[in-house]
Amino acid sequence: MKLLFIGDVVGDVGCQFLQDRLRAVKREHGIDVTVVNGENAADGNGITAYAARRIFEAGADVITTGNHAFQRRTDLHIYEDENILRPANYGEACPGRGVTVFDMGSTQVAIVNLQGLLYLDMLENPFDCADAILETLDTPNIFVDFHAEATSEKRALGHYLAGRVTAVMGTHTHVPTADACILAGHTGYITDVGMTGVEDSVLGVDKQIAIDRMHLHVPVRFAEAKGACWMCGVIVEFEKKCGICTNITPLILR
Ligand SMILES: [Fe+2]
Ligand SMILES: [Fe+2]
Repeated sequence: MKLLFIGDVVGDVGCQFLQDRLRAVKREHGIDVTVVNGENAADGNGITAYAARRIFEAGADVITTGNHAFQRRTDLHIYEDENILRPANYGEACPGRGVTVFDMGSTQVAIVNLQGLLYLDMLENPFDCADAILETLDTPNIFVDFHAEATSEKRALGHYLAGRVTAVMGTHTHVPTADACILAGHTGYITDVGMTGVEDSVLGVDKQIAIDRMHLHVPVRFAEAKGACWMCGVIVEFEKKCGICTNITPLILR
């Protein structure tokens, strides 16, 4: 079976690119299940009900998020949908859930969303949280979106879960890494799958706005860049009986 995982969709333009291209990619590669990180899918960041609907309409089965999950207070009801996740290591009182089991008839696929601690909010420990979640799952097909900044933390979690989950796929940096591999002969891994949105930008944000912020330290209002898009992700092939990843292939579409 094949799972397609697409990295952080940024803004209206990213949603549009996804809607234009995802169906053809799924057909071409014979994809069985599609997961999309939508934490930046709304213009101005975060995710709205409208943006989530567009991602599902584009062909996603499950949407994951990250540190911008709760940015749109008026739209927090989207997390009542069991196929829209926020990182599991946010507290119990927070809206939504961080794990879902997607039923494909003969096979169940668990999607887990976790967030790193380095340079981000101090949440529950993602390693312990992963252990607790694995105890509750009775499918071997387990896919983790680890939304984190530090490559070290991401690679550490990959090795920690090696042999116990089908894949650990990083998001949040919006920059695809070249380290896709299979850990312990079982677990597909990539530090970051990258983003979906305008390529000639700073992580999807207008270049000049990002330069002013970094160079001059002046307050800025972020705005999405305009221009040609790229869509970044990975295709994970796996044996549904045992949950072993047999192939993980980066996908970059311009
Ligand atoms: Fe993001
Ligand atoms: Fe993020």
